[in-house]
Amino acid sequence: MDKLIIEGGIPLHGIVTIHGAKNSVLPLMAASLLAPGVHQLSNVPCLRDVVTMQKLLTHLGVESKLEAATLTLNSNSLAANDAPYELVKTMRASVLVLGPMLTRWGKARVSLPGGCAIGARPIDLHLGALKQMGAAIDIKEGYVEATAEKLHGANITFDVVTVTGTENILMAATLAEGTTVLKNAAREPEVLDLADYLIKMGARIEGAGTDTITIHGVESLSAGQHTAIGDRIEAGTFLIAGAITGGSVTVENCPSQFLESLIEKLREAGCKVEATENRVTLNASQKLNGVNITTTPFPGFVTDLQAQFMALMTLANGTSVVSETIFENRFQHALELKRLGADITLEGRTAIIKGVKKLSGAPMMATDLRASASLILAGLAAEGTTTIERAYHIDRGYEKIEEKLLKLGAKIQRKNG
Ligand code: UD1
Repeated sequence: MDKLIIEGGIPLHGIVTIHGAKNSVLPLMAASLLAPGVHQLSNVPCLRDVVTMQKLLTHLGVESKLEAATLTLNSNSLAANDAPYELVKTMRASVLVLGPMLTRWGKARVSLPGGCAIGARPIDLHLGALKQMGAAIDIKEGYVEATAEKLHGANITFDVVTVTGTENILMAATLAEGTTVLKNAAREPEVLDLADYLIKMGARIEGAGTDTITIHGVESLSAGQHTAIGDRIEAGTFLIAGAITGGSVTVENCPSQFLESLIEKLREAGCKVEATENRVTLNASQKLNGVNITTTPFPGFVTDLQAQFMALMTLANGTSVVSETIFENRFQHALELKRLGADITLEGRTAIIKGVKKLSGAPMMATDLRASASLILAGLAAEGTTTIERAYHIDRGYEKIEEKLLKLGAKIQRKNG
């Protein structure tokens, strides 16, 4: 299994071009199930999760090819209507095929995702909404079996904000009969990006990007072309890499408006941050101060940057408090960070971090995608050598991360075995 080896303590300097957003590309790929023809998606990174979604779509009969960040998907025929456990267990976002398959073909069988490293992550809200739209849903042998001759519009209020739940129902509603209104919908930029593509395909959608989305069902949709938005999590991770190493990093190709809550916290900690429309530059020449963060749905502080921000706080002056309100078990990185000398106390969904003068390199184990990013950041700042086992987690969401870090001056290499 691959491991990453980092010689820390080098301030990073330079410019990073940010790739397309993983969390946009996955639902955009699922949207190809809604219309026959050739869909063309640009700004698509080569990530493990994208490859997993390609495998799932191939299984369903959608042929795809990724070349030079352009993904073509040909969805003329349907070969199967099930999302098997083997694929869903490695990537929960596989559940995004449920809404499109059900609304276009009236039938879908999707493995239940089960638990994952960061929490229970049920899909009850996806299923409840589909039932409101007229679907019959059975759970058999670990699979959701959904059928509906024709879904109909409904007024749906989500109990909690769910990103893939909003996206699944948004896609299902495009071909349903009548009007669907989604309340307490996710406002994440990736939801808006999906809606933008669906509209290009012929869908009638109003209010995407707000907490109320109205969808008027249409008879059919057609394949189109779309460019995915920049990945705000990759951009945020590189900005924090600049901050934690006391360097200066510019990220390009990601709208700075997606990063506002992070930028605010980085400034509060003492970083100098300049933002224009599509470019953010961070300078961290002084020792940073501890600040508190609480993860919330967009536009609040994103849970997918919580682990990385915690790594930053381990070296800040004073005490900081990190509250995780989205996932109940998203602190596994804290235990690994302690191995480098970080002073972190966990109390339920809160982490109390007392800044230390230095971290010292050590062997660590990546447990999930964003946790592995946090460990890399800590390794970049630590004195001496840090080894991160199970590096494959990072490849789910970051394309060529070590190459990008090398260009910024980091000493990092990947080794097999
Ligand atoms: C998406 C993102 C993930 C991000 C998360 C929160 C993708 C592919 N993944 O995941 O990177 O960390 O949003 O921003 O876009 N919930 C329920 N019942 C449901 C659905 C969700 O109780 O049916 C709960 C979850 O357990 C969690 C909260 O709602 O506590 C938010 O989860 P959700 O937004 O659905 O996360 P994902 O869409 O899986």
